[in-house]
Amino acid sequence: METMPYQPQLDVTPARHVAETVTATDWRRALPTLHGRQVTLRDLRASDAPSLHSLLTTQEVARFMSPPPNTVDGFEKFIAWTHRQRAAGAYVCFAVTVRGYDTAIGIFQVRDLGHGFDTAEWGFALGSRFWGTGVFQDGAKLILEFVFETMGVRRLEARAAVLNGRGNGALQKIGAVQEGLLRKSLLRDGRYLDQALYAIVDADWRVLRQQQVRALPVH
Ligand SMILES: CC(C)(COP(=O)(O)OP(=O)(O)OC[C@H]1O[C@@H](n2cnc3c(N)ncnc32)[C@H](O)[C@@H]1OP(=O)(O)O)[C@@H](O)C(=O)NCCC(=O)NCCS
Repeated sequence: METMPYQPQLDVTPARHVAETVTATDWRRALPTLHGRQVTLRDLRASDAPSLHSLLTTQEVARFMSPPPNTVDGFEKFIAWTHRQRAAGAYVCFAVTVRGYDTAIGIFQVRDLGHGFDTAEWGFALGSRFWGTGVFQDGAKLILEFVFETMGVRRLEARAAVLNGRGNGALQKIGAVQEGLLRKSLLRDGRYLDQALYAIVDADWRVLRQQQVRALPVH
């Protein structure tokens, strides 16, 4: 999701209060907290705005995405918007934290492309100091488990600018299949960029997950 669905100019609805603790299936009310080996994924909070602003607005992180909010206040509004979109059943956004720390260092977002999340699109961004550390892969596994098993997604799409080496490499290594090329589909810095279209379908993901379980060492 290199084009973020959030559009600040259209964001005028006041935020609604949501509960903190929920079971996974209550995701429209509030997101569950998901624990991996290295990361914890949790609902965004307004207090995440400063770290997300600092980490996700650098040139190297933002160069292949639609521009993120450029102020802390803009990120606070974005976070409130994510909560309203989740309550409406259209979109979810998790904060990425490194286990043992509560600072948000990135996001995973998923939006409905069809009816009731049968087809969805995901996107992600991490602060660059966390690239190549395994944080992406660990978080992505949690998201895939959540979207396919809890949200009932059948097909999960992603778009990555062809020039975005890490974005393409990250998708390929978690089993996303490139299905096509979307020519001149992302406007960035006055240039239209080609994007690769990737998808993971539920059946493929279950096979991949089973293979990973089999590959685990037996003690
Ligand atoms: C996308 C992102 C979350 C991935 O996280 P990451 O920690 O960089 O990903 P990983 O290191 O686990 O995987 C990237 C893979 O791409 C490979 N890669 C790096 N540069 C590459 C290039 N130019 N061409 C092909 N593959 C490349 C890496 O070697 C790595 O594979 P490996 O682990 O097998 O060596 C992160 O890079 C990011 O936040 N980027 C900015 C935001 C963004 O572009 N989001 C949209 C993504 S579609």
